[in-house]
Amino acid sequence: MAQNWSPNGWRDKAVLQFPDYPDPAALDATIDKIRSFPPLVFAGEALELRRKLAEVCEGRAFLLQGGDCAESFAEFHPDNIRDTFRVLMQMAVVLTFGGSLPVVKAGRMAGQFAKPRSNPFETVDGVELPIYRGDIINGIDETLAQRLPNPDRLLQAYSQAAATLNLIRAFAKGGFADLKAVHGWNLDFIAGTEAATRYQDMADRISEVLSFMEACGITGDKVPEVRETDFYTCHEALHLPYEEALTRADTITENGGHFATSGHFVWIGDRTRQLDGGHVEYFRGIQNPIGIKAGPSLEADEFIQLVQILNPENDPGRLTVICRMGADNVAEKLPPLVRAAEREGLKIVWSCDPMHGNIEKAANGYKTRNFDRILMEVRGFFQVHQAEGTHPGGIHVEMTGKDVTECTGGAQLISEEDLSSRYHTHCDPRLNASQSLELAFLVAEMLKQRRANGGLRSAAE
Ligand code: PEP
Ligand code: CO
Repeated sequence: MAQNWSPNGWRDKAVLQFPDYPDPAALDATIDKIRSFPPLVFAGEALELRRKLAEVCEGRAFLLQGGDCAESFAEFHPDNIRDTFRVLMQMAVVLTFGGSLPVVKAGRMAGQFAKPRSNPFETVDGVELPIYRGDIINGIDETLAQRLPNPDRLLQAYSQAAATLNLIRAFAKGGFADLKAVHGWNLDFIAGTEAATRYQDMADRISEVLSFMEACGITGDKVPEVRETDFYTCHEALHLPYEEALTRADTITENGGHFATSGHFVWIGDRTRQLDGGHVEYFRGIQNPIGIKAGPSLEADEFIQLVQILNPENDPGRLTVICRMGADNVAEKLPPLVRAAEREGLKIVWSCDPMHGNIEKAANGYKTRNFDRILMEVRGFFQVHQAEGTHPGGIHVEMTGKDVTECTGGAQLISEEDLSSRYHTHCDPRLNASQSLELAFLVAEMLKQRRANGGLRSAAE
């Protein structure tokens, strides 16, 4: 258990990326209300995820994290939740089949509302406005009224997270995730793309295997893994008052510590990972599995100190380092971190976020990412781990089940001119369903290669 820690101890530290609420008393009153709300997740689930991540750490599983950059109130719709869940399931099945590894699935869903921003203000038509910080804080519309932080949004975010999680749980356990339905996960609008055809072929093979297993007496009634799945939620725990209000002492499992109950897995963003900052202070005391984003400015010494604060017992499922170096930096910036961790014998799940280091501005002003650059970073990440003898444990992507045009490239050859056609994100550009699937096939190939090189353990080892 963390020493000298309490859920509100972060309040004595500097907290970056926190907006000025015009009425701090109203914020406090809302936070007090949330303190009495039911937890969204249970400590036992977070501990189960920690155990699964320990398997990833030991090289026996792979982590898939994906979902919106920023969930929004406007896009809150059962079809959107279903489609993102469905594409994540497709990606997971592609990775499991290709990599012959269990895949741990976590959606950037049911809580991914607060966004760190590079500038606190922006100028729109000559007027300076507070920057949009995610729907849990303010509105995206370019008016002062919308941009002022409003505590009522915390209640709406909680309620949206609860309803989203409820549907996710129903999908995971209620039949939607049954492997027999693997064909049905394909989305109409990606039909005809190369990824969809490949997926269809793979689904045929899976169906064949399932029929064979059924003939041998192995059915979903006997083996729940065939019929249902474990699906976890994750988000950046940026809004510390909200997180504190949902931090609860565990009175049921034997662990007995405090848990963030806003989601199963929470991470610290690249902009808020200061050693003496409020976020690191909050995170060191919660017992959930946690992540830290590692960008190109993170040096090995500071990295080791961070890991020691956040995972002092060197527990293998506790800490995931989500590397987001950028395609051009990964070969140079990642090895020093991996080597330092190996030297110190630190147990870390290494994951690759190929999105946040590869943002570019298209000539027509759209913020975008190019699919080839995203792939290049994933390849670089795998190469570093191949060279260092460590496990490339996962990927972390911004994606949606919708047919958006936000990232350029991919088999659909989305061009900069196409971006305006269906650009809906509330923050960063996401992979669409077909690009997500294409990425999963390419990562599955890399995992297969890795196994061929003797670098992957099997689940049974
Ligand atoms: C994010 O994951 O949406 C994000 C803001 O990432 P980072 O902290 O790595 O910039
Ligand atoms: Co983002």
